[in-house]
Amino acid sequence: MEISPKKTTGFNLDNYDLKIAEENPEKFWEKIASELYWFKKWEKVVEINYPFHKWFIGGKTNIVYNCLDRYMNTWRKNKVAIYWEGENYERKTLSYFDLYKEVNRLANALKNLGVKKGDRVVIYLPRIPEQIISMLAVAKIGAVHSVVYAGFSSQALRDRIMDADAKVIITADGYYYRGKVRKLKEIVDDAIKDLNINKVIVVERLGIDVDMKNGRDIYYNDAVKGMSYECKTEVMDSEDILFILYTSGTTGKPKGVVHVHGGYMVGVYATTKLILDVKDEDIYWCTADPGWITGHSYIVYGPLLNNATILFYEGAPDYPNIERWWELIERYRVTIFYTTPTALRYFKRFGEEPILKHDLSSLRLLGTVGEPINPEVWLWFYKTIGRENCPIVDTWWQTETGMHVVTTYPNMKMKPGYAGKGIFGIKADVADENGKILNPGEKGYLVIKNFFPALMRTIYKNEEKYKSYFRHGLYYAEDYAVKDEEGYIMILGRSDEVIKTSGYRLGTFEIESAILTHEAVAEAAVIGKPHEIKGEIIKAFVVLKEGYKPSEELKESIRKKVREVLGPIAVPAEIEFVDSLPKTRSGKIMRRVLKARELGLPLGDLSTLEED
Ligand code: WTA
Repeated sequence: MEISPKKTTGFNLDNYDLKIAEENPEKFWEKIASELYWFKKWEKVVEINYPFHKWFIGGKTNIVYNCLDRYMNTWRKNKVAIYWEGENYERKTLSYFDLYKEVNRLANALKNLGVKKGDRVVIYLPRIPEQIISMLAVAKIGAVHSVVYAGFSSQALRDRIMDADAKVIITADGYYYRGKVRKLKEIVDDAIKDLNINKVIVVERLGIDVDMKNGRDIYYNDAVKGMSYECKTEVMDSEDILFILYTSGTTGKPKGVVHVHGGYMVGVYATTKLILDVKDEDIYWCTADPGWITGHSYIVYGPLLNNATILFYEGAPDYPNIERWWELIERYRVTIFYTTPTALRYFKRFGEEPILKHDLSSLRLLGTVGEPINPEVWLWFYKTIGRENCPIVDTWWQTETGMHVVTTYPNMKMKPGYAGKGIFGIKADVADENGKILNPGEKGYLVIKNFFPALMRTIYKNEEKYKSYFRHGLYYAEDYAVKDEEGYIMILGRSDEVIKTSGYRLGTFEIESAILTHEAVAEAAVIGKPHEIKGEIIKAFVVLKEGYKPSEELKESIRKKVREVLGPIAVPAEIEFVDSLPKTRSGKIMRRVLKARELGLPLGDLSTLEED
């Protein structure tokens, strides 16, 4: 099926010649980069030392200068940057000037506490303005942030703190989620109990009593007290690290994906402007969390680089009722709405009535991200939410790519279920495991043939892992895909051991490790099982130690353990006790055998594309 977007008042991309991008991507990226501020212009656009790549060589900039400082001498300083709404309906509005001042105060406080250029700072906060302020303050002084999603728990946090060797953590006493209090500071204390951490900065979101360790822990308000509203922005090289974001892969602990000031900035600026089409008049809402890449790129950096007005909501989508999101769109007159297929599938269940009660006529562009969207859900989004007036961009990308890679431009013909094509001259295609490009209709792996500015630079302290993405001269995204005659790409899901549940990216290994911390568990294997709403749910197969008997209580206690060590988002929806797990001769657990059995599929169906 094909749907052509209705002609609206015009898109930002109408002012760009996309033919240039197709013919000479470097030229296109250079033009985009020149719309941003550089302390010193680059000497060369790109340098490739396969599979490593660098962009805007010799250029000096700072992404935060472009997000905030450069507006301060223009009317843009007084534009609303963030409309924030708490789950408990608390509201705050921050102009760019407000945000600038808050960022400067915290940046000065961080310096005061000894944070230097290049130091890693872990940010473990809920969706409150301080989460965004912290990211910007860290980057402003040239330090490196590693944001950890607040839905992770102590072990996940600890692994990330240790891998990045962070000495400073910014957290909160706790936050509200679905009306319940989640105590973050307790989780931090547990995660770092035997680690050498210099400072823990604590935002008082709830005002509850927390343990404060003398000399180490300091309240946010005390840290910023008396600090100047001005702070010099550190001049960074294009290739200096901006952040590390941990994400799950096939094996082992999560890997630190590294993004840099220059190329990442140019990539997210361009895609926010030309794919999400954010303009001055827009009220833009992305429902993700800055704890994940979508929030980094399309709540924080991309929108701020475009001087956009952002809606930022703390709470759950369905709290206190399933109309919360539609109320928000109506109240703030949201014009651009960027969300996940999981959320849409969930809301679709409740029918049209809760939606039609609200005036959503402000919407002009919709987007989805994170998982494949089923055509019927796409159509529901198009009709019920978008009233057939809004183009939908189904944006395929990853933590590793930093920015959108496969999608349609907002003025392009849409095909529900197909994300689209490589944008701005990025050549995305479908190949087999030997690097042979496949014909339309043949299923294979999604690959990218050329480099682009926002693609990760490396995996923190793990160059080998970075190199392993590149095979036969191609970047393998670890997704299955198929293209049609026109080159539109349909994404078919992960080809590795990553589970995408409610759009969250988790590795089977991490969940298994969490299950194994339970005293009764001898062995565990985890698979993603297709689910109508969440895309996939986590199913765990557990072998118990001698002397333990299967019971419902034991399942609950295993779930509790996973919640404690890894976090609520990683709790297996289903647990099955088994006597043994299928293994290869070398002892590797054959999860695909479990999956085939679970789904009642012949083994061959799953094995055709997989290597053992
Ligand atoms: C999946 C999220 C289908 C895919 C931005 C990818 C998608 C993984 C789409 C990266 C989409 C992302 N259609 N699948 N539009 N967007 N994915 O790192 O499996 O959390 O490899 O980044 O999400 O997940 P990550």
